[in-house]
Parts: sequence; C-alpha cells; structure tokens
Amino acid sequence: MEKSQELMQRYNNVFIFEHPLIKHKVSILRDKKTKMKDFRELVEEITTVMTYESMRDIPLHPVKVQTPLEECIQYRIDDDSIAIIPILRAGLGMVNGIHVVFPTAKVGHIGMARDEETAIPYEYYCKFPDDIEKKTVLLVDPMLATGGSANDALAVLKKHGCTDIRFMCIIAAPEGIQAVAEKNPDVKIYVSTLDRCLNDKCYILPGLGDAGDRLYGTKQL
Ligand code: PRP
Ligand code: URA
Repeated sequence: MEKSQELMQRYNNVFIFEHPLIKHKVSILRDKKTKMKDFRELVEEITTVMTYESMRDIPLHPVKVQTPLEECIQYRIDDDSIAIIPILRAGLGMVNGIHVVFPTAKVGHIGMARDEETAIPYEYYCKFPDDIEKKTVLLVDPMLATGGSANDALAVLKKHGCTDIRFMCIIAAPEGIQAVAEKNPDVKIYVSTLDRCLNDKCYILPGLGDAGDRLYGTKQL
C-alpha cells in the first residue's frame, strides 16, 4: 500500500491530496532553479487549492436572497467565523492564498523558529484576533518536518480555547504527520504532498529546502 494511503487509514484526521494540479505546482516549487517571485506565487496558488478542500465541511447559515425572479433560501459562510494563523515565518506565504477565497478572514500570528542544531522549536511571538476561541482556525505552515513547530502552535491555540482547528501544510514528512496526528486527533491535518523522510538535520527529503529562505530570499541556494 502507498505510504499516503497507509497514513490516512491509520489516522482518520489526516488528508493527503493527490491532485494533479498540486503535483504539477509542487514539482516547480521544489526546483532549485525556481526564483523567489515564482516560489511565492506557487505557495499562494497551492494554498488556494488546498483551502477549497479543507473547508468542505465549513458551517453554512441560511439567508433569504431576492433574485430578479423570486425570493429563495441560499447558504452563506459567516465571514467573521474564520481565522488564519500562519506559523512565522514561512506560514505567512500562505495567507494571501486563503484570502483569495476568504477575503475578510482575520489573521493571527505565531512565531516559531527551530534551533538549527537541535531542530527544537521555540516560540518568539504570539498575537491572535479577538474571540479566537469562537472561530474556525486555519493554522498554516508550508513545511511539516518533525512536527515540533506545529505541535507547539496547536498547544498555544488550544490554551486559548480554540476547538475547531485545521492545519494545512504543503510538504510533510511521515514523521511529522505521525507526531501531529497522534498528539492532536481532534485537529484535521491537510497535506498537499507527502515526502519520503527527514535527513540528519531534520530537513525533508526530497523537500524544497528552507521554505522561509526561499520565500524571502534570505539565503543563496
Ligand atoms: C520551518 C518551517 C516550519 C518548521 C518545520 O520553520 O516553516 O515552521 O521549520 O519543522 P518542524 O516540523 O521540525 O518543527 P523554521 O523554524 O526554519 O523558521 P522560519 O520559517 O522562520 O524559517
Ligand atoms: N523547514 C523547512 O523550511 N524545510 C524543511 O525541510 C524542514 C523544515
């Protein structure tokens, strides 16, 4: 059985996409020749595609709509019910991709950075929208490696009372999916692409390198 099928069978909160459009875009994203502007645009485009899928079960409320012909009952999403929480830095690159679909979603930030030697994350910033505990939270980070950053960010959100949390990442290692899924069976985890494993520096293989550096041009490849 394919690894992605195996993970989805083992954890019913894990959803790994097998969409040709995502495969196509991720293949360009990985390429070391892809420059910062294209990289940033691809991250946004992939995020938009993922948002459609991850919000499939978002609650709708009925509203009366007068068409040119008659009045009818239609269904809308409460604009104020969604919060986007990027894990800084790289998660910031996904925010615009969600705003394309939910332009009024509020944005909170959690700053997490991995120690370069140990790969253990530390929190350096946290600011959430008011009433975060009442919102559907989309926690986003393009990379899920050991799962340490996502697990710490989820613990912070839960401490703030959040109960409807979805986590979206573009590339994940099996180790990270396992770590987050086991610790957070109540959180739906959406993964665009499952990669092979981590290397000895806890980078994802084949991966795309350091997502933050590629989004913001902070290091030469
Ligand atoms: C990267 C990435 C994730 C984290 C994933 O961030 O964006 O937040 O590593 O690794 P993990 O699953 O092992 O925790 P990094 O700490 O490099 O910070 P940056 O986004 O500021 O570059
Ligand atoms: N963070 C990244 O940006 N890339 C990896 O491969 C692992 C963690």
